Amino acid sequence: MNSQTVVLISLFYISLASFGRGDEGLGASFILGDSLVDGGNNNFFSTLSKANMPPNGIDFKASGGNPTGRYTNGRTIGDIVGEELGQPNYAIPFLAPNSTGKAILTGVNYASGGGGIMNQTGRIFVNRLSMDIQIDYFNITRKQLDNLLGPSKAREFLIKKSIFSITVGANDFLNNYLLPVLSIGERISESPDAFIDHLISNLRGQLTRLYKLDARKFVIGNVGPIGCIPYQKTINQLNSDQCVDLPNKLAKQYNGRLKDLLTELNENLPGSTFVLANVYDLVLELITNYAKYGFVTASRACCGNGGQFQGIIPCGPTSTMCSDRSKYVFWDPYHPSEAANLIIAKKLIDGETKYISPMNLRQLRDL
Ligand SMILES: *[C@@H]1O[C@H](CO)[C@@H](O)[C@H](O)[C@H]1NC(C)=O
Ligand SMILES: *[C@@H]1O[C@H](CO)[C@@H](O)[C@H](O)[C@H]1NC(C)=O
Ligand SMILES: *[C@@H]1O[C@H](CO)[C@@H](O)[C@H](O)[C@H]1NC(C)=O
Repeated sequence: MNSQTVVLISLFYISLASFGRGDEGLGASFILGDSLVDGGNNNFFSTLSKANMPPNGIDFKASGGNPTGRYTNGRTIGDIVGEELGQPNYAIPFLAPNSTGKAILTGVNYASGGGGIMNQTGRIFVNRLSMDIQIDYFNITRKQLDNLLGPSKAREFLIKKSIFSITVGANDFLNNYLLPVLSIGERISESPDAFIDHLISNLRGQLTRLYKLDARKFVIGNVGPIGCIPYQKTINQLNSDQCVDLPNKLAKQYNGRLKDLLTELNENLPGSTFVLANVYDLVLELITNYAKYGFVTASRACCGNGGQFQGIIPCGPTSTMCSDRSKYVFWDPYHPSEAANLIIAKKLIDGETKYISPMNLRQLRDL
């Protein structure tokens, strides 16, 4: 045997070993949504919403601390959940050149900073992938899976071994409905009730399209307390323990409707399981009782600039950065730190129904 053969054979066993793990673990995660879970898609087109500059990613081990396009200092909730459930690699950004061949068998990430349920959401960033486009992209992956595994194995892989996670909605408020009327929001023409109706009916269509493409295990995050992020606190000049009412009120109203939608889909789409991740209550718990979780602040961004909470200018090379990143709930004016993401992810994986219902993600994987 020459050394090349030895290398090839070892590689063969290494890949068998990781597949063996996949038999008990999660096969793949398909991640859709916004900047909370973007794994780098926005690096591949021109947009005003980008995170591929330092110090973003400074604690991301897989890149040696280099920025990857993730809007946080380390791993996103999607990364941590995949890792904990036994996925051998992080889901690859759909737009990355290496998202081809067998690499897609551990999952693909379609999420995009600035994206929302509505096509118009995030227009201020010029470009971003909205949910409709992300699902068009999954439809491309779907065909690649047929080619890789054959149609019947591909279907079984999706139905039994794959989790679809959807984290979306915050931008539909922050970067659409709540934008000043004279810019490009929708508030001028719709009441909150009508706008939220519209969001829910679009999302119903989007989730049903994924179901038609053989998605069965879903986890959908609700919208977090967007009135409590450093950006909102700063521009509204609040005290550190206050939150802005309107964004939180809209989020709660949407979240109530989302809960009903998932109940409806669980009843109407045979063989499906839709799990609700109660991000709102989880993040509010971290913000309210931050000291209990070892944080020193839940109002100041670790990386950012402007105002009393560093909440106006996004994180980049000229930002100030806090000295202990593990002690901040928020990494930047909008996004949680890796330390916060770890706490949130653990609650979603093994937590109780207050935060993840009707079952947690470990139970969803093992269905
Ligand atoms: C694929 O490329 C992306 C960025 O372009 C990188 O973050 C990721 O680690 C790569 N993944 C693999 C499995 O090569
Ligand atoms: C949003 O854009 C997609 C893709 O371009 C299109 O198929 C869809 O009909 C649009 N949806 C709405 C509500 O305009
Ligand atoms: C997926 O793409 C095919 C065309 O390649 C189209 O006929 C089909 O309607 C699409 N499915 C969904 C659910 O979007």
